[in-house]
Amino acid sequence: MSNTDKIVLTGIKPTGTPHIGNYIAALEPAIEYSKTHKTFVFIADLHALNLIHDAKTIREHTYQAAALLISLGLNMDNAILFRQSDIDEIYQLNTLLMNVTPKGLMNRAHSYKAAMDKNIANNDDVDAGINMGLYTYPILMSADILLYNSDIVPVGADQKQHVEFARDIAGYFNKTYGETFKLPTPVIGRDTGIIPGLDGRKMSKSYDNTIPLMAPEKELKKKIMRIITDSKTPEESKNPDESTIFHLYKHFATESEIAEFAEMFRRGGMGYGTAKTILFERVNSVLSEPRTEYERLMANPNEIERILDTGAKHARPVAIETLARVKKAMLG
Ligand code: TRP
Repeated sequence: MSNTDKIVLTGIKPTGTPHIGNYIAALEPAIEYSKTHKTFVFIADLHALNLIHDAKTIREHTYQAAALLISLGLNMDNAILFRQSDIDEIYQLNTLLMNVTPKGLMNRAHSYKAAMDKNIANNDDVDAGINMGLYTYPILMSADILLYNSDIVPVGADQKQHVEFARDIAGYFNKTYGETFKLPTPVIGRDTGIIPGLDGRKMSKSYDNTIPLMAPEKELKKKIMRIITDSKTPEESKNPDESTIFHLYKHFATESEIAEFAEMFRRGGMGYGTAKTILFERVNSVLSEPRTEYERLMANPNEIERILDTGAKHARPVAIETLARVKKAMLG
């Protein structure tokens, strides 16, 4: 089997207005794979349910995520873009996989442990605010991955453990019921590391330091101009690797542009204001065309619905086939 025969799958959780950190970690890898591979990309609205209890908000974020993927160049010839909740088989596989998933595995999930740690730090009950959707999140994610026979699962570093759990669960299943699932492999995008936000900490909605991906030009500029820097004078030499400006630039430029920008930092003579302007112009030139298409799609939600419907029509037969195999193995 050649590499391009491998099936790629990833899910985008519609929990907020997507920012540049989301783009680099999750959207861009899926878009890149879709150029060469059959790629299942779905909006993971069921995964948003443990956090967002408002249908309108989930729907809005779902449209945003879908419009983003399309406008940023998801190759629709190879990609199957759909909404997770549109495929009934996912709920069923989720239930079936419960029975081969050790509880101890869920106890070890980073995201669940982080939620518990936060409660402990706040002197709250250890289970406060933790619903079963959050606790069993990795099982649903395993069902996503296994339902579509995925080989390659591109994810941000924070999701690697979840893909490894899917691999473990597939292994337990195969051992119990015979070879049924392929074992998926997580692929973490090129050295993205942690993507810094405006204040230099990890770009995250919870720190309120994000740069929205499809912000209008003016807002984009304002945000970038607000990046926190140290107090070096324009004349001083600066270490690009310590600069949020440089770190963000790396994701929007070619190798030679990156090398040149690094040199400008080191050489001295470039103030942070100039560096920010260069970053803004670069980011804006990459995003301005997609932004137009994004805005057009967001103004036409029916078109997004049609695209997601078409995706579901292509995803469903695969899901039906897998589920039938699993039911046969487990129930005869
Ligand atoms: N959990 C992922 C996130 O938070 C989204 C997701 C859901 C996913 N199902 C998936 C990613 C399956 C990869 C494969 O970003």
